[in-house]
Amino acid sequence: MLEITTLTHAYAGRTVLALDAWQVAAGEHWLLLGPSGSGKSTLLHIVAGLLRPSGGSVRLAGTDLYALPAGERDRRRGRSVGIVFQRLHLLEALSVLQNLALAQSLAGQPVDRRHLADLLSRLGLSERAAAKPAALSRGEAQRVALARALVNRPQLLLADEPTSSLDDDNADRALDLLTGEAKAVGAALIVATHDARAAARFVRHLTLPKAT
Ligand SMILES: Nc1ncnc2c1ncn2[C@@H]1O[C@H](COP(=O)(O)OP(=O)(O)OP(=O)(O)O)[C@@H](O)[C@H]1O
Ligand SMILES: [Mg+2]
Repeated sequence: MLEITTLTHAYAGRTVLALDAWQVAAGEHWLLLGPSGSGKSTLLHIVAGLLRPSGGSVRLAGTDLYALPAGERDRRRGRSVGIVFQRLHLLEALSVLQNLALAQSLAGQPVDRRHLADLLSRLGLSERAAAKPAALSRGEAQRVALARALVNRPQLLLADEPTSSLDDDNADRALDLLTGEAKAVGAALIVATHDARAAARFVRHLTLPKAT
């Protein structure tokens, strides 16, 4: 479902990512490893259709992402990719429920109250639906960001350092939720981390070398 060939990326002439080939099949779970600065976040942004690589191609479900016009690429991301960024980017002026509803609208979907209520309940957030992000604990906010990434039932779920600011218990729960929810919607999952606690839970690892 994801097919990468001869991918490279450079910022201001400095190459930070070079990846010959990588394929992720539907429903596979991958851990993306590598030291700080090795290009994990860069790769996730490229895969999400948010950052045009300097070279190479990214095919998502058979379509060359960067051959699409930008608007079409955005729509495709809205429909088929869910992303949990390291900084969660919840909209502070909106409640938890409104943040999720907005993610549905932005993907061109009608707001489906029942689906949103189900999702909140699965992630243990029903009681917090009306709360603003500033009033959430770190673990709750992380679950809201995950709920938002799942709203449109993505084929591909991406998470950047989902456990970085969590204690062991909450890190475990966050990884349980990510893998469990990816399974529930049948999504392929890519988790970028340098957290050794995550490594044992994934069979498939892609390790990026330290940038030179
Ligand atoms: N917008 C940017 N402009 C210039 N250089 C950048 C930009 N974004 C990232 N870089 C550089 O590219 C390299 C790869 O960064 P990236 O954030 O992808 O690494 P990472 O593996 O995610 O690191 P970390 O584990 O610290 O999150 C780093 O050297 C970083 O400084
Ligand atoms: Mg990063």
